[in-house]
Amino acid sequence: MKLAFWKKSDDTAGQVDFGRLPRHIAVILDGNGRWAQRRGLPRTAGHKVGSETFRTIATYCRDIGIAYLTVYAFSTENWRRPQDEVDTIMSLLKRYLLEAIDTMERDNVRLRFMGDMTPLSVELRELVDRCNAISDRLTGCLCSICINYGGRAEIVHGARAFAKDCVAGAVKPEDLTEEMFENYLYSAGIPSPDLLIRPGGELRLSNFLLWQCAYTEIYVTDVLWPDFSKEELHRAIASYQRRDRRFGGVKR
Ligand code: IPE
Ligand code: IPE
Ligand code: MG
Repeated sequence: MKLAFWKKSDDTAGQVDFGRLPRHIAVILDGNGRWAQRRGLPRTAGHKVGSETFRTIATYCRDIGIAYLTVYAFSTENWRRPQDEVDTIMSLLKRYLLEAIDTMERDNVRLRFMGDMTPLSVELRELVDRCNAISDRLTGCLCSICINYGGRAEIVHGARAFAKDCVAGAVKPEDLTEEMFENYLYSAGIPSPDLLIRPGGELRLSNFLLWQCAYTEIYVTDVLWPDFSKEELHRAIASYQRRDRRFGGVKR
């Protein structure tokens, strides 16, 4: 009896209703540095393991039928970190891009990059463009990787683009609606996240998807990103499925 109870509570997949999954999951890939430091390793070691965790979780999201996955990999503020840490993250990104260009079609995962790519090296920018172009031809799970991304920067970028269209006479300021403005964001065409997962335990958004997360359900876990597993994902989805999303209305 005791064993049966233990088994049940440990059966994380059993807690998930796979017929009612969130359409869009966003994840703040946080906790790599602490993971490494707790093991007496350099922070960069955490980023390496974290990139493997990303591969596992992205593949699993595709397998269970999550339509959109958006991950925060490098923020507009992360340039403040020591140069060797930034360099390691950029070299992991390059490795990931090269691998993705070879495997995306086979895996039918669309990879798209969101953020301001201008400070990246020419080589990285070319790889990002190639990846985005391949994605445009595919139909599978859309995985958006946010690099040099900031929610405020994204809104300013959108506001500038709208202002330019006004000056060009294509639109009028009074025509602007929330729906129209969404088309000026990096995330144009992608529905808002249903669930935002933050590993690493911090209770903040850290400038991630400020516009898009207006009604997103938030799940924070102390588990650090390199230790994040399918079981943790099940726990997050099960928690989401117990929520009552009211969108300002009353309980259904
Ligand atoms: C997240 O892990 C990865 C990036 C921000 C690039 P951190 O490096 O922020 O890990 P902690 O929060 O210091 O543990
Ligand atoms: C958020 O994590 C950015 C990414 C995970 C890419 P940070 O580690 O940069 O956030 P803060 O500094 O703890 O708010
Ligand atoms: Mg952090």
